[in-house]
Amino acid sequence: MKNTKGKFVDLDTKKLDIEKLKELDAYIESLEDKEGNLIHVLHKGQSLFGYLPENLQLYIARKIGLPASKVNGVVSFYSFFTQKPRGKHTISMCMGTACYVKGADKIFDAFKAELNVGNNEMTEDKMFTLKDIRCVGACGLAPVVLVDDKVYGHVTVEQVKEIIDKYRKED
Ligand code: FES
Repeated sequence: MKNTKGKFVDLDTKKLDIEKLKELDAYIESLEDKEGNLIHVLHKGQSLFGYLPENLQLYIARKIGLPASKVNGVVSFYSFFTQKPRGKHTISMCMGTACYVKGADKIFDAFKAELNVGNNEMTEDKMFTLKDIRCVGACGLAPVVLVDDKVYGHVTVEQVKEIIDKYRKED
């Protein structure tokens, strides 16, 4: 979403699921300090809708009485918020320094090729979202890949397909 006011105003919040909106409304209404709880509201929105599309951000901004650009700024800042739908599993490639010097970029490229997606994209079958992340504090295991919460250390290009297949078979 571009942070221009006009773009926000044009978005159609009527396309959002009404039942989920009702639940979100009830949550927002229950908060005394709505503005101070913006992050909690966004978490609630993401847990209900799976992600925070632009029209949902606009809806939340209007409900709380904040500029939509501020809401989008918070959503963009925190990596746990996503503006795109996520696959069933999230594959996160650590691109921190220790991982990078051990070839993280080559492993990331191998994931992109194997999944046929770019960074922050979901596979066509909605099974995986691939994204880069910063240091996860496991530098001794570099290069590190996370699949959801599971940590894979000393990952090689050859293991990329193996890791993906493991999750494909489980589902
Ligand atoms: S740089 Fe990858 S875990 Fe620290």
